[in-house]
Amino acid sequence: MTVNDSPILALHLGPRRDDSSSWLMLERFQKGVLAGGGQIKVLSVADHVIEGCRGCGVCYQTGLCVIEDDMTVFYEAVEAASRIVVVTPVYFYGPPALGKAMIDRLQVFWSRIYKLGERRTFEAPPQGFVMAVGATKGQDLFTPIKLCAKYMFDSIGFPRKFPFKGYRRVETPKDWSPEWLAEVEGYGRDFAKGTLSQSLGLDEG
Ligand SMILES: Cc1cc2nc3c(=O)[nH]c(=O)nc-3n(C[C@H](O)[C@H](O)[C@H](O)COP(=O)(O)O)c2cc1C
Repeated sequence: MTVNDSPILALHLGPRRDDSSSWLMLERFQKGVLAGGGQIKVLSVADHVIEGCRGCGVCYQTGLCVIEDDMTVFYEAVEAASRIVVVTPVYFYGPPALGKAMIDRLQVFWSRIYKLGERRTFEAPPQGFVMAVGATKGQDLFTPIKLCAKYMFDSIGFPRKFPFKGYRRVETPKDWSPEWLAEVEGYGRDFAKGTLSQSLGLDEG
């Protein structure tokens, strides 16, 4: 198996899966990945107990986190992945607190690269993708999430530029139009095939 044949890692930052617009988006994306011949591993922060980063700085010396919780599952998955999709709702113009806690805890990867000089190597170029959904329609609705994702990807050794797709005016799963969900499924297919950046372009917040 080459790295590009390895499963896409989906990180769901929403705090719940039932009656969730972001989870529905991820389910349709997953369907597209499978239709495109890919594999996908899904991790939702909703299913895990994740403490916030304490900012203790121990990882700057060790590259490891002192907190013992479900974050180990995310560390192992991120280490194994060369393609990651982040799926998130917008909460107060950013990712939900639990999702942001997970991102903050990725600081161990930042420490390994920027404090300990351990550059990550990948057999195939790593690539991220971000999809977000919010209830309102503000022009800057997704700007903080894009910036947060940019530095999240940088901290794990991924490119700072990534395809991005945001959906506005989706307050509940009922607000998804069949056309939009079909589009999301198409993005899953394209990401599995490695053609997504051609259809969506690259963003960096
Ligand atoms: C705590 C909280 C904060 C929110 N803040 C925003 C916001 O700043 N902008 C916005 O457009 N929608 C906001 N929303 C609405 C959600 O983005 C929207 O309902 C989304 O579809 C929820 O996705 P979910 O069902 O996966 O949680 C907020 C919702 C919650 C619960």
